Amino acid sequence: MTYLSIDAARLLERLSVLGNTGRDASGTLTRLAASSEDKLGRDLLVSWLRSAGLSVTVDGIGNIFGIWGDIQSNQPLMIGSHIDTVINAGILDGCYGVLSALSVIEALQGSGKRPARPIVLAAFTNEEGVRYQPDMMGSLVFAGGYSIRPAMYFELHIEQGPILEAGDCTIGVVEDLQGISWQRVTIEGVANHAGTTPMAMRRDAGLAAARVITFLRDEIAATPPTVATVGSIKFQPDAINIIPSRAVLTVDLRDPDEQRLVAAEQHLTQFVKQLGQQENVEIRLERIVRLEPVAFDRDLVGLIERAADARGFKSRRMTSGAGHDAQMIARVCPAAMIFVPSRGGISHNPMEHTDEADLVAGANVLLDVVAGLSS
Ligand code: HGY
Ligand code: MN
Ligand code: MN
Repeated sequence: MTYLSIDAARLLERLSVLGNTGRDASGTLTRLAASSEDKLGRDLLVSWLRSAGLSVTVDGIGNIFGIWGDIQSNQPLMIGSHIDTVINAGILDGCYGVLSALSVIEALQGSGKRPARPIVLAAFTNEEGVRYQPDMMGSLVFAGGYSIRPAMYFELHIEQGPILEAGDCTIGVVEDLQGISWQRVTIEGVANHAGTTPMAMRRDAGLAAARVITFLRDEIAATPPTVATVGSIKFQPDAINIIPSRAVLTVDLRDPDEQRLVAAEQHLTQFVKQLGQQENVEIRLERIVRLEPVAFDRDLVGLIERAADARGFKSRRMTSGAGHDAQMIARVCPAAMIFVPSRGGISHNPMEHTDEADLVAGANVLLDVVAGLSS
């Protein structure tokens, strides 16, 4: 059976060009949402969308849509992801899904096929949530009051974890996505002299913060699949010879099971209450983001699995450890995701890498799913 295929060279070239857009003088890639670096990437993407003959609209929170066909007459099939990045990022997270979506549309255009329904490419704003929380902000706002009502949504993304590589699989058929809990912990102690203050007299916000970090590792995330991360911590006054009066740290908890995630949050709340008394400090927990686990559409998941099989790609069903725009769009229409392997399971790191053959394989599976639904 002859397959339509995406233009692999053009996809890889665009990944490299977008990946080099917004780098600083040291070569670091950081395109945080709504930054001037992000604008460079957005403008480049829009120029590519326009060259593909798509009509481009941008909604109130900056989500970019490239439209092929008449969305007034028929609900579109939506494909996309995000192009904002984390700090010191790789070039694939999000960008791979958006540029593959463009490759899919161009392959269909080149085939002369007129899709049965319009196709809309989406690049959602602030998926990463590094500069502004919550993460997946653009797709969350879109889901709350969408300007374009899609019939279904597919997102192609790198796995960002070790599972596909470990199983020697080319395609991840994503059935669900784990729950996410982001909190900010503020600890108020008392600044004092590092040399003269006896240990028993200290109200050390820094020590209490350290106890929170080890508690998360040793108690909350002691058994998989629960994961816990303190990605950011700040001390005040932040001087070598002053006992910290204040510590502010972030806690990222995730679990595929909602009950276990609730229990983990409750366990942390109890712990910080005791810790506050023990260390004579004030500890405040503030919720930043709370997203329950999401199940993707079974029919669409089956379509992806069959498309991978038809091309002879080894695939496996799996849960997404990362948050994605698809979990927000799943609130308004059937949605599903396709993963490709990440070398060494590395992501949110400039070492992020997926072999070119796998990048092209994922884009062709997306093409087959879209072509099958729009013929
Ligand atoms: O946090 C996440 O999982 C995603 O990268 N925004
Ligand atoms: Mn992403
Ligand atoms: Mn990410």
